[in-house]
Amino acid sequence: MSNKAWGGRFEAQPEEWVDEFNASIDFDQNLIDQDVQGSIAHATMLANQNIISQDEAHTIIEGLKAIQKDVHQNKIAFKASLEDIHLNIEHELIQRVGEAGGKLHTGRSRNDQVATDMHLYTKEEVNGIIELIKSLQQTILSIANQHVDTIMPGYTHLQRAQPISFAHHIMTYFWMLERDKSRFQDSMKRIDISPLGAAALSGTTHPIDRHETQKSLNFSAVYENSLDAVSDRDYIVETLHNISLTMVHLSRFSEEIIFWSTDEAKFITLSDAFSTGSSIMPQKKNPDMAELIRGKVGRTTGHLMSMLVTLKGLPLAYNKDMQEDKEGLFDAIHTIKGSLKIFEGMLDTMTVNTNRLNETVTKDFSNATELADYLVSKNVPFRTAHEIVGKIVLDCINKGVYLLDVPLEDYQSHHESIEADIYDFLKPENCLKRRKSYGSTGQDAVKHQLSVAQQLMNS
Ligand code: ARG
Repeated sequence: MSNKAWGGRFEAQPEEWVDEFNASIDFDQNLIDQDVQGSIAHATMLANQNIISQDEAHTIIEGLKAIQKDVHQNKIAFKASLEDIHLNIEHELIQRVGEAGGKLHTGRSRNDQVATDMHLYTKEEVNGIIELIKSLQQTILSIANQHVDTIMPGYTHLQRAQPISFAHHIMTYFWMLERDKSRFQDSMKRIDISPLGAAALSGTTHPIDRHETQKSLNFSAVYENSLDAVSDRDYIVETLHNISLTMVHLSRFSEEIIFWSTDEAKFITLSDAFSTGSSIMPQKKNPDMAELIRGKVGRTTGHLMSMLVTLKGLPLAYNKDMQEDKEGLFDAIHTIKGSLKIFEGMLDTMTVNTNRLNETVTKDFSNATELADYLVSKNVPFRTAHEIVGKIVLDCINKGVYLLDVPLEDYQSHHESIEADIYDFLKPENCLKRRKSYGSTGQDAVKHQLSVAQQLMNS
């Protein structure tokens, strides 16, 4: 007799190297807990529906629990010839408890079994990711609370544009993460569905109760269509997308951290505990954690692309191609969890160089828009004001000075309405103070933003 669960109709066995190509046990052993959980729910339901006896269900459940324990203690050697976690566990169960074990798979197929395991796994992991995002948001918010009055140059095109609050700048990432979190939360509607009982594709003739297993596995709903239940991998694509976009956000923030910690910027100093050195240049302290997070977007985006391409053109229902859904998802989840944790630690321990930041905006032209606005307040049309300030800036560049250094007579030679109050007007802190529009970088607006963010965190 064949050692395969499906060996009956086969006259020859695949060779070992063919088994190895076919197997997923190397990676789907990750699903051991979900697999046992799904099987316990299924066996309990089979007994409640009188499809197997209560005694048999009891034997199966105790056997599964013992196997699960042994797997965690590395006491079971999985076999590639048994393909995957589902068949390895079932084989072990039958070895241990005999006939009752052979009844577990009644009214079920590996197709709905693997889908159930993946739904359970994704649900649990996405909930974990949401918690890590919340924690990172809280860290950003705490840093922002300390830096409402810290001023830095805001950039467009990576050219200094206008002075902004450091709190305002980093809060942008709080809001990106807020959207990421809400995308993960929304996706739960499509993850939290039970495929169990769809069997191979068409349902089953056994009088099973899909709603019982749905409830005992804590799923919010069941798939309405058995074919859809075993063919749907949308929730995996969606999770990979949500992970990829969150990683893109972490990567953008990483890029800023890397720039801010250069000698050129010196806006922040990363803790030694989150930096590494060079094997040749003794003076180096490199922002490796931020660079790695930036780099890892390559793999998460790759997993998303690879899943989309795997699904393209797949006919209904299960096809072995679908076994390819696992490694990418497992790796993407591992990657984002690590990245979120590291990012939080890196932010938590970095020093914001407040003096350096405040001083930076006194040695640039980021207050040029303010000068134009000053002229507008003197009834000069904005376009004319823009032209005049452009000329003043050009004069300054030629002389190697900044707007606060220009003598009043020079200002007045450009426009007679400029008076001595211009010097106060152009100070970076006053530039911020005048920004009272909702959501702007003005100190009061930022304080309001922080209180809205804190309320969100508390809700
Ligand atoms: N290892 C398989 C997978 O991960 C389990 C489902 C196998 N089903 C089948 N009909 N061969 O997709």
